[in-house]
Amino acid sequence: MKVSLSNDKLTKLTAELLVVGVRSAKLGEGGVLDELEAALGGDSLARAIEVENFTGGDGQVLRLAARGNVHAKAVMLVGLGAPKPGQGETRMLVQRAVQGAKNHTAITVLLADSSPELVRVAAESAASAGYRYTQYKTGDRKPKTAVEDVTLVVPGRIPAASKVALEEGVAIANAINFARDLVNAPPNDMHAVALADAAKKAAVSRGLTVEVFGKKRLEKLGMELFLAVNRGSAIEPRMVHVTYVPKKKPKKKVVFVGKGLTFDSGGLCIKPPGSMVTMKCDMAGAATTIGIILAAADLQLPIEIHAFIGCTDNMTGPEAYRPGDVFPSLEGKTVEIINTDAEGRLVLADVLTHAAKLAPDYLIDHATLTGACMVALGPYRAGFFANDDELASLYLAAAAHEGESYHRLPLDEDLRGQLDSDIADLKHVGGPHGGAITAALFLREFIGKTKWAHCDIAGPAYLDRTVGRYPKGGTGFGIATGVEFLRSLGRGSSAR
Ligand code: BES
Ligand code: MN
Ligand code: ZN
Repeated sequence: MKVSLSNDKLTKLTAELLVVGVRSAKLGEGGVLDELEAALGGDSLARAIEVENFTGGDGQVLRLAARGNVHAKAVMLVGLGAPKPGQGETRMLVQRAVQGAKNHTAITVLLADSSPELVRVAAESAASAGYRYTQYKTGDRKPKTAVEDVTLVVPGRIPAASKVALEEGVAIANAINFARDLVNAPPNDMHAVALADAAKKAAVSRGLTVEVFGKKRLEKLGMELFLAVNRGSAIEPRMVHVTYVPKKKPKKKVVFVGKGLTFDSGGLCIKPPGSMVTMKCDMAGAATTIGIILAAADLQLPIEIHAFIGCTDNMTGPEAYRPGDVFPSLEGKTVEIINTDAEGRLVLADVLTHAAKLAPDYLIDHATLTGACMVALGPYRAGFFANDDELASLYLAAAAHEGESYHRLPLDEDLRGQLDSDIADLKHVGGPHGGAITAALFLREFIGKTKWAHCDIAGPAYLDRTVGRYPKGGTGFGIATGVEFLRSLGRGSSAR
């Protein structure tokens, strides 16, 4: 998709479908509607509004033919609801414009102002809203690309920073769409080796340094928890390490870690079919992690960034690990296996220990870790844990800025006793209550004193229907927030 900027006046621009966001459908208030009415000529707009009972309510859409001095095939008014100008509104407007474009391949959207922040959000929305996963459709069943061209029209002079912001928005959207593709790919094709290859290819194409660790190297390092999960699989595990170093002296060093379970059958503690059917999504943490570093590199952020993903599936082959088994971790503590379906925390434990050795300012992991997190927060919100309050406030501020939903959950010390084992240093699963928290407490055992945050994205990473900006299937949740967090570190704490 091509996204471009224009500052043409309403009567000067040519468009296929012209999209105008409207807060109130009242004419005579001197707003964009009056301008449009004058340009269309006559009272066609006033009549259409009356006939269609268009009030400008949230999500309302009114289509009409263009005429007079409006050089477009059609005009679409999108209701924005109660006045709440800003990023969220722009996001919704552009998204509805792209999704409501019907048979138009080019759309032109009027924006309220030309600020870089608004342009960035609009461009990101434009380039991510039309996302569809069509790779496995053939012949006529493959849907044609809908909207190919989006022109964002802003009033007045276009600031140079807004031209940069446009490119940034598109880069973030490309990373989001890339992550969605990884998650939506079927698990027979998107296995551990394929996921590592895809991550490597995308990183190398941006000139990033990539190191791929195969089974032998993981054995040599001593990642026996990670390898335990892989024992039941016919496919080798992979750990991928991507590095981005900015040209200028970096302001901070941040390491991201992602859970890359390309399929989670539950292992010997096998999942029922209803819970297993969507388990290709269990590598969404890895997809988010890669998405963040790709976008950050495109934006040339002044932060040194590392991304580690631990890739394997969780299967039931003859060598599969069992409940009752004990394995040593890379960190040193021994772990008694309780339930082979709690595999993600085992992979993460070893990868986190390895990642923490880089001594980052911040260590951030993303994982579709627990069903319990969805029980606690519903499917649209991520659970957020941190052992450092400043990190938590920075990360959650970035999330609020981007309009992504997180909720901080406590690392409750009272629950830590649930992880005590009779025969090993740790059990890897606690009791029936507080499962998202005990999973986080387990991870905390493997990061030493590093400032760390854990994002449990089991709910929002993969949806069974389109919700707001997130499409059905893989959503790319968390990439916008991760990139904004890095941008905020680049600006320094005073700029907010
Ligand atoms: N990958 C799942 C968590 C999950 C559930 C992600 C639903 C997305 C949607 C994870 O590996 C898992 O199976 N967790 C278990 C842990 C339990 C055995 C302690 C769970 O949440 O049931
Ligand atoms: Mn599992
Ligand atoms: Zn899992």
